[in-house]
Amino acid sequence: MAGAEFFGAEERKEVNEVLDTGILFRYGFDEARKGMFKAKELEAEAEKFTGAKFAHAVSSGSTAVTTSLAAAGIGLGDEVIVTPFTFVATIEAVMLIGALPVFAEIDETLCLSSEGIKAVLTPKTKGICLVHMCGAAADMDAIMPLVKEHNLTLVEDAGQALGAFHKGTSVGLFGKTGCFSFDFFKITTAGEGGLCITNDETAYNHMAEYSDHGHTHQGSNRGMEPHHIMGTNFRLSETNAAIGKVQMQRIETIRTHNKKHKAILKSALAQMEGITFRHMPDPEGDSATFLNFFMPTAELSQKVMAQFAEDGIAGFNYWYTNMYHFINQWDHIKELKSPNKLGIHHFGAPQDYKALKLPKSNEVVGRLISLGVKANWPAEELEAFKNQMVASIKKVLA
Ligand SMILES: Cc1ncc(COP(=O)(O)O)c(C=O)c1O
Repeated sequence: MAGAEFFGAEERKEVNEVLDTGILFRYGFDEARKGMFKAKELEAEAEKFTGAKFAHAVSSGSTAVTTSLAAAGIGLGDEVIVTPFTFVATIEAVMLIGALPVFAEIDETLCLSSEGIKAVLTPKTKGICLVHMCGAAADMDAIMPLVKEHNLTLVEDAGQALGAFHKGTSVGLFGKTGCFSFDFFKITTAGEGGLCITNDETAYNHMAEYSDHGHTHQGSNRGMEPHHIMGTNFRLSETNAAIGKVQMQRIETIRTHNKKHKAILKSALAQMEGITFRHMPDPEGDSATFLNFFMPTAELSQKVMAQFAEDGIAGFNYWYTNMYHFINQWDHIKELKSPNKLGIHHFGAPQDYKALKLPKSNEVVGRLISLGVKANWPAEELEAFKNQMVASIKKVLA
């Protein structure tokens, strides 16, 4: 919950500025808004922080994934490699845009592995929607050569990984387009909101136009600009943007706190026999929003989770304590349930989703336990959490 832990006078001031002008719309009304363009200011903060040439704010992380796919040129009938371990929004976006998800294996990075990608690559593969899961980057040194060799379109869903870098480059900047979420639970929040980034000017123009019915935002006469492409309304409101802007200014502080608190918890767990950690190709680049560790078996992980629940320690095992993040809980997707006809109904699924075999992903997610790291954790509470976490695991291992 990092960003939401830090709401304060600055967020209130920025929101009140918007309310005082009465202009909640991000475009136009130049005189009435008195020079305030909060969405633009949020985008400038995001460009500064990530190093992206272009950032474009939208209404949610989910619409940011859709916008990023569209701006990267992915659409109807395109086969896109995806992960079975992500918030379900990634798969929904691929399906809703008419593309065809091809599931590949993850590994202990919690992200798609290069081996997993290779195993499902075919001449029909158009791209990869790569998710940087649980606050840290995928193994980009292994994945990027595949992207280049097979001329794939890479879109990065970094919905959970704003603040994560791989060897100095922000996630979201390895591919053609990338995106983030500013929902209530993220490292920086706008209440609701999302952000797309790119270094490609054409992709940026497509992001800005696609998310606003094709408006090109040229000149002062909104509605009389020429249309280049079709789009829809994924706009972010100025009130949400005002909060997001301040939160982006706080991100370095939040990440520093996260790292400190995560290190304290991690070093306590590192003393314990049998516990291993999520593999991070670049630990320095971690946004440290989650502490992810593995028990030696899925059975032990279930026991620890039960003990945590009894002892008041909040955590996730995505296999069975949350229906939205792992494919074992996604029957509605495997059965292609939708109120309307999708591209996949027309073209057919590229894999038999109900018969999919993902033994490595099952093994990794089965053993995984994930703890949210609080940034604003009072020292005494953190100490109590750490001691209880260790005591709970000891009870199970005794
Ligand atoms: C990887 C990933 N992609 C997309 C989203 C969707 O973001 P939002 O909740 O802002 O729509 C999330 C949300 O948690 C996510 O984790």
